[in-house]
Amino acid sequence: MYNKIKKIALLTGGGDCPGLNAVIRGVTKTAILKYGYEVIGYTFGYRGLYNNQAVPLTLERVSGILHKGGTILYSSNKDNLFDYAVEDGGKVIKKDVSDIAIENLKKSNIDVLVVIGGDGTLTSARDFARKGVKIIGVPKTIDNDLPATDVTFGFNTAIDVATEALDRLHTTAESHHRIMILEVMGRNAGWIALESGIAGAADVILIPEIPYDINKIVNKIRERENLGKLFSIIVVAEGAKPKYGDVVVSKIVKDSPDPIRLGGIGNKLATDLEELVKNHEVRCTVLGHIQRGGNASTYDRILSTRYGVKAVEMINDGEFGRMVCLAGNKISSESLENVIGKTRNVDVDGELIRVGRSIGVSFAD
Ligand code: F6P
Repeated sequence: MYNKIKKIALLTGGGDCPGLNAVIRGVTKTAILKYGYEVIGYTFGYRGLYNNQAVPLTLERVSGILHKGGTILYSSNKDNLFDYAVEDGGKVIKKDVSDIAIENLKKSNIDVLVVIGGDGTLTSARDFARKGVKIIGVPKTIDNDLPATDVTFGFNTAIDVATEALDRLHTTAESHHRIMILEVMGRNAGWIALESGIAGAADVILIPEIPYDINKIVNKIRERENLGKLFSIIVVAEGAKPKYGDVVVSKIVKDSPDPIRLGGIGNKLATDLEELVKNHEVRCTVLGHIQRGGNASTYDRILSTRYGVKAVEMINDGEFGRMVCLAGNKISSESLENVIGKTRNVDVDGELIRVGRSIGVSFAD
């Protein structure tokens, strides 16, 4: 037992995600009830740490938040304190302000910082750990693309929403003999498209890891027609791209450390496909932030709670500079040094792709 701990702080960074509040609740309740720590939460992610803006996290404050999407601590995906925009002589310059953050932690007597976020937020966590801050990471993202953990919280809710969207799209597809495309998020990883596509009975699944040939999609549509199936359902990941083509970028967010926002491949594919297919209307639905919002699924509530409890157990055991993770069905942890700078992509030779192919799903390769 690492018994010098009295006060801990939490922050949530990056895009919001179902399960953030469940982690905040899990950490706060365990810290107070089991170990007697005081808990505060910095607001708006690292920006709150820089500005020393925090709120007390009490049992009352975390009551009733388990299921709720978003984060009661608010979030920001723009504030990297190692490269932070500050005003200097009337000009805005980028500067490393991490020492100010460390001073703020000291001034508030924070013994350990728990950082809940995706790759950007956890990269900063690793950098703070390198500067001696006692820090623990909790892996968040609907994209499920962080290494060292089998599952990030938020992913399950996202695939539930995407699967329901596919179920609903079947209605119009069948009634009007249309080709219905669903564009889902996931950045450069195809997990959301792959898993919701299998659960939602998509005929074609397009993921970044397998560049697609549009003619193969047409072949699949024709193959189905020959079987008397006059509609088709396609799920496309926002990061999917054609063979010999590139991803579609929807927006550049200039002040973001990761400025490229993907999106638009679904509508592009609808236009291209309608040219080739002719005998069907092709329509696209972009699921967007709907898959990131709303109540957390049962699975995510449990996973987030397990992550929150484990984070505090690690504090008690003095295991710092590490990220909580899930390996198989076991909660464990991994050094932040081994998590950063890598993306966990779909294994194109893996079991899920094989499952898809076995049941006749086309990946259009
Ligand atoms: O990383 C989560 C995610 O929702 C991605 O799937 C998506 O590409 C991105 O964030 C969208 O970011 P924003 O909300 O800033 O547009």
